[in-house]
Amino acid sequence: MSAESSPKADASGRSLEQLVADLERLEAITEGWSENQRATLSAVRSTLEAIQAEAFRRIIRAVKARPEGMAGLREAVDDPWVFNVLHYHGLLAAPGPSLVERVEAALASVRPMLAQHDGDVELVGVEGDTAKVRLVGSCDGCAFQDATLRDGVEAAVLAAVPEITKVRLVVAEAPKLVRLEGRARMGSGSGSGAVIEASPFSRPWIDAGAAEAVREGEVVAVELDAASVLLTRHRGEIKAFPNACTHLGMPLEGGYVEDGVLTCPYHGFRYRLDSGECLTAPDVALVCYPARVEGERVQVQVLT
Ligand code: FES
Repeated sequence: MSAESSPKADASGRSLEQLVADLERLEAITEGWSENQRATLSAVRSTLEAIQAEAFRRIIRAVKARPEGMAGLREAVDDPWVFNVLHYHGLLAAPGPSLVERVEAALASVRPMLAQHDGDVELVGVEGDTAKVRLVGSCDGCAFQDATLRDGVEAAVLAAVPEITKVRLVVAEAPKLVRLEGRARMGSGSGSGAVIEASPFSRPWIDAGAAEAVREGEVVAVELDAASVLLTRHRGEIKAFPNACTHLGMPLEGGYVEDGVLTCPYHGFRYRLDSGECLTAPDVALVCYPARVEGERVQVQVLT
């Protein structure tokens, strides 16, 4: 392997360890310098580092804004040259839980609701951007398992793990209709022996105002009983989010939209309007509320 293509050497064939050792030797020389000389050198170095850190920050933002950008960034950070430089500039988040652990945590958040209906969910595995799950207990084969999967399990996983874009149901057997004695028929009163006919995640559609008031490239806040909701129109499609920044929870309605990205007016956190992904902090995202237009009106489902 040539020096140029070696992951261990730079273009001139020097390893990272050699360069660090060279740097330490040069720094040792400055120990004999006067205080003024050393202060000047230190000022030059910190100015250069500030310029480099800001440049790296901008590169990272630009890469993350592209589809597949995060995957490329993670691959680059696996390289010790990249890792050490970004770590030196404080641009790497502290290692957090793994992808699978975060998906498991998202599933754990919906388990109490599934348990109310004697159901549960298991993670079968994660492949690329897809989490495969199995519904078990009463949820498996329930007539409303699609709604349970979409509105409960999938919504929780997509909101908590931005790298996952699809949740697939793995069905072990032919679906079956589950009847539970003594349970209520949701939406039609209660009675012993009734059939569960609704997902535990069924939520009402809430009127959120006139569709024409939601314009492309603008955001508007709507105060609903359930929550303050931020509406926008992205490529013609109505999008709805909580009107609260993931940074300090400040309202987002004063933010500005450019190229499909919303910037918080307070400290500049940036969010993709198509997915809610935060381009500033990869570990957080805005929850996308289901939204639709019925007639001339916007309707949303508020996820809590
Ligand atoms: S509250 Fe939005 S960036 Fe700080």
